[in-house]
Amino acid sequence: MNLRTVIELRLSEAMRKAGFAGNPLVQTAARPEFGDYQANGIMALAKQAKRNPRELAQAVIAELDSPDLIDPPEVAGPGFINLRLKDSHLGAALQSSSGIDPVPNRERVVIDYSAPNLAKEMHVGHLRSTIIGDAIARVLTALGYHVIRQNHVGDWGTQFGMLLTHMQDAGANSAQLADLESFYVAAKKRFDEEPQFAERSRQAVVALQSGESAARAAWQQFINVSLSHCQDVYERLGVLLASADVMPESAYNDDLETTLNDLNACGLLTESNGAQCVFLDGFKAKDGNVLPLIVQKSDGGYLYATTDLAAIRYRNRTLHADRVLYFVDARQALHFRQVFAVAEAAGFKPAGMQLEHMPFGAMLGKDGRPFKTRAGGVIKLSGLLDEAEERALEVVSSKNPDFSAEERQQIARTVGIGAVKYSDLSKHRTNDYVFDWDQMLAFDGNTAPYLQYVCARIRSVFRRLDGEVNMRVDLTPTHPAERSLVLQLLRLQEVVEKVATEGLPHYLCAFLYDLATRFSQFYEQCPVLSAHSLDRNRRLAYCRKTLDTMEFGLGLLGIDVPERM
Ligand code: ARG
Repeated sequence: MNLRTVIELRLSEAMRKAGFAGNPLVQTAARPEFGDYQANGIMALAKQAKRNPRELAQAVIAELDSPDLIDPPEVAGPGFINLRLKDSHLGAALQSSSGIDPVPNRERVVIDYSAPNLAKEMHVGHLRSTIIGDAIARVLTALGYHVIRQNHVGDWGTQFGMLLTHMQDAGANSAQLADLESFYVAAKKRFDEEPQFAERSRQAVVALQSGESAARAAWQQFINVSLSHCQDVYERLGVLLASADVMPESAYNDDLETTLNDLNACGLLTESNGAQCVFLDGFKAKDGNVLPLIVQKSDGGYLYATTDLAAIRYRNRTLHADRVLYFVDARQALHFRQVFAVAEAAGFKPAGMQLEHMPFGAMLGKDGRPFKTRAGGVIKLSGLLDEAEERALEVVSSKNPDFSAEERQQIARTVGIGAVKYSDLSKHRTNDYVFDWDQMLAFDGNTAPYLQYVCARIRSVFRRLDGEVNMRVDLTPTHPAERSLVLQLLRLQEVVEKVATEGLPHYLCAFLYDLATRFSQFYEQCPVLSAHSLDRNRRLAYCRKTLDTMEFGLGLLGIDVPERM
C-alpha cells in the first residue's frame, strides 16, 4: 500500500465534497512539526477558485472522514494541511504489510542496458548503464511489471575487420583473447602502422558483411569469447543479464533495408551528399540549419541510428512493449531525441508506446577529470572489481581479524562489490560523480558497508535470541523513536513506485539510509532484549521488519548482505 496515495485519495474525496476538485499534492512533511505528510496544493486551487485558501483548507478538513487513518488535521501557514497518521493505524498497517504490492497493470517494459561494444573488453564506462539498468529492472519486476531485458551489444562494424585479421595471424587461440583489451590495442596498432594489414582488414569487413562463411565463423568465435567476458563481469556484479537477453546489433541486419523502405514510403528520406537522411524540424544546429539523422551512408552502409530504428520496430511489433527505457550515457541524448522523433513520424512507435532515454553522467576521478588509469588509459571493469575486493578485504580484516581467511574473503567480495554499486546508485543518475574508494568503503555515512553493517547488527540480535520472533503482536508504537522507524518502514511502497516511474535509484538508497539511521536511533533509545515482554516482543518485531526491509531494498539494488561483519 502506498500511504501517500491513500491519504491523497481521502483528501481528494473531501475536496469533492467541499465543492471543488484538483490535486491536493500530498508530500512527505519537510519537518516533524508539520506532521507526517503535508498537503500543499490547496493554495493554488483556492487562487483558481478565487477563494480564501485557509478557509478552503478548513472546509476540506471538515469533510475529511478518516478517523481510522489520521489524527484531526490542522491548517498551517497560508493554507497547508498538516497530516499525522494515527499510531494505531501505523501498527495495523505494519502488521499487514509484507514486501511491496504489485501495481494493477502488468505493462510490458523493455529495459535496454549494459550494451557494451564487443570489440573491446568492458571498461568503467559500462558500469553505470549495467548497474542502474539492472536495479530498475529489479524494481519494475518487484512491482509486477513484465520486464524484458535487452542487451543491445555492439557486434558489428568496421573494427571487426582488423580484429579478425589479427586473430587470423595470431592463430586464433583463445589464450590470445583472454585479454581482449590488449588484443584490441595490438590490432589497432597494426591497422594504423601496416598498410597491408589495413587493406586485409578492409577486405575482411567486406567478406563478413557479404556473409562469407569463414569470415562469419571467425567473427562468431570472437563474439562468443567477448560475450563470455561480459557474462563473467555480470556474474561478479550480481547483474541479472543472461545470454538470452543479448539482442545484438547484428540481429537487425536483415531489417535495415525494410526500415529504410518504410521511411521512404512515409516520405521521410532525403538524399544529402549521397547519404540518406531524415530531416525533422525541431532539430536545429547552432547555425539554424536543420540537423539530419543519417540512416545510410553514401557507400550503402547503415549506421547506429538505423539499427536503433529497427530495434524500435522490433520492440513494438514483436516484444509488444508499452514502455522502453534506455540506460545510456547522457552524451547520446541528441541521438535518442532524433531517433525517437523519427520513429514517431514513421509510425514505428505507436501512440501508446513510451520511449524514454534515461541518461546518466560521467564517473570522475578525485581530480574531477574522467576516471582513467594513471597513464590515462581506460580502466577495465574486471580490474576495478579486483581492486574493490582487495580494498574491502583490508577493511574487513582490520575490523574482524578473528574471522577465518575464507569468511573474510567472502565478506570482502560482498562488501567491495556492494560499495562500488551503491556509491553509484546513491547519486542522482543524471549528475557526474566522483569515484572515491575511501568514501564508498567507509562504515559510516550513506554507503553500502554502513547499511550492510546495520543488517549484520540486527542479525546479531537474533543470534542472541533462542526461538523465532513472534510477529503476531500489537505493533502500535509507544516511543517516538519507534514511531519514526515504523513510519519509515511504511514508506517503502511509495519510494519504490517513485523509483520505477522516474528511473532514479538514488531515492531508494536515500530511503534505506534514512531507515538505517532511524533504526540506529531506535536501537540506542529503546532497549530490545532487556525490555519487558510486551515491549520486547514489539521491538523484536520491529527489528525483524527492519532487517527484511533493508535486505529487500538492497536486493532491489542488486546488493547482498553478509551474514556477519
Ligand atoms: N553500444 C552502445 C555504446 O556503447 C550503447 C547501446 C545503447 N543502446 C541502444 N539501443 N542504442 O555506446
